[in-house]
Amino acid sequence: MLHAHLSPGPLPSRMQLTKDGKLKHFLTIEGLPPLLLEEILDRAEQFVTLPNKQQKKAPLLRGKTVMNLFFENSTRTRVTFEIAAQRLGADVTNLDIRTSSASKGETLLDTVRNLEAMNADMFVVRHEHAGAAHFIARYCAPHISVLNAGDGRHSHPTQAMLDMFTIRQKKGSFQPLKVAIVGDVLHSRVARSQIHALTTLATGEVRVVAPKTLVPAGIEKMGVNVFHHMEEGIEDVDVVIMLRLQRERMQTALLPSEREFFKLYGLTEERLQLAKPDAIVMHPGPINRGVEIDSRVADGMQSVILEQVTNGIAVRMAVMSMIMGSQGGAA
Ligand code: CP
Repeated sequence: MLHAHLSPGPLPSRMQLTKDGKLKHFLTIEGLPPLLLEEILDRAEQFVTLPNKQQKKAPLLRGKTVMNLFFENSTRTRVTFEIAAQRLGADVTNLDIRTSSASKGETLLDTVRNLEAMNADMFVVRHEHAGAAHFIARYCAPHISVLNAGDGRHSHPTQAMLDMFTIRQKKGSFQPLKVAIVGDVLHSRVARSQIHALTTLATGEVRVVAPKTLVPAGIEKMGVNVFHHMEEGIEDVDVVIMLRLQRERMQTALLPSEREFFKLYGLTEERLQLAKPDAIVMHPGPINRGVEIDSRVADGMQSVILEQVTNGIAVRMAVMSMIMGSQGGAA
């Protein structure tokens, strides 16, 4: 649990950078300079092009201990962080929160203090509360770095960067592109981080496409165009990013039914024809077949969904090695 009197509150994004502008923590994309995002993408490129055997001999984190603290379920993020840390030569520990002493009333800060006493160097944190990773970054020992692996509906920065990597890999530069983010934008930390990343990288047009009940008020201020009709929203786009309905974060009925949602916003082969002929289809996962995306599209020629997952390893290696470099490591 978070201590009420230590509530993280709004924190300046600069707390994630060192005085000379290097990554110390990776908490949010918001406020990061375009050059730093490009540096992450360029560095990830090096890790992708290395054959697997060589990747396992890139010991930039040798002697370091990475602790995965997942207070919320995960498949892709947790496992790719683990593989990335192992490929960089780190010792990796996964704390199973369900069987940890958090269930006996231990506060988040006390859990952190105890893990610090076991000589942690890096915490990878997923938490259902927005601000949890910032909170740990603010109060943990100064030598420790914190990577946000998803906090509430706030931010999921490494997911956004692996998505940017995949877009750049498939499309080259961002400037000429039209990108549509479709679905439950209201509850999506991924959408927020993607919008920050896409606008920072000067993408031609960023659209969000959703029913009114699933669009946050004032989202236009983030530099996006809002569409409530799927057919208009994906017309002529280069990239379609589908999002799942986050039922677990919905406190009221925001939709008539999943069937109705699919009828109006589901990505089918017919609808995909409205996008550019070479448009790519993305999804951060987990996908819900027949709710936001038809199986023929999810498994089709234009889908790069599983390539996103693979790219997550290289991007997370890139971020962790840059952070270790800023700590005076070998990167
Ligand atoms: N994209 C994503 O965060 O997936 P997981 O919840 O499986 O980590």
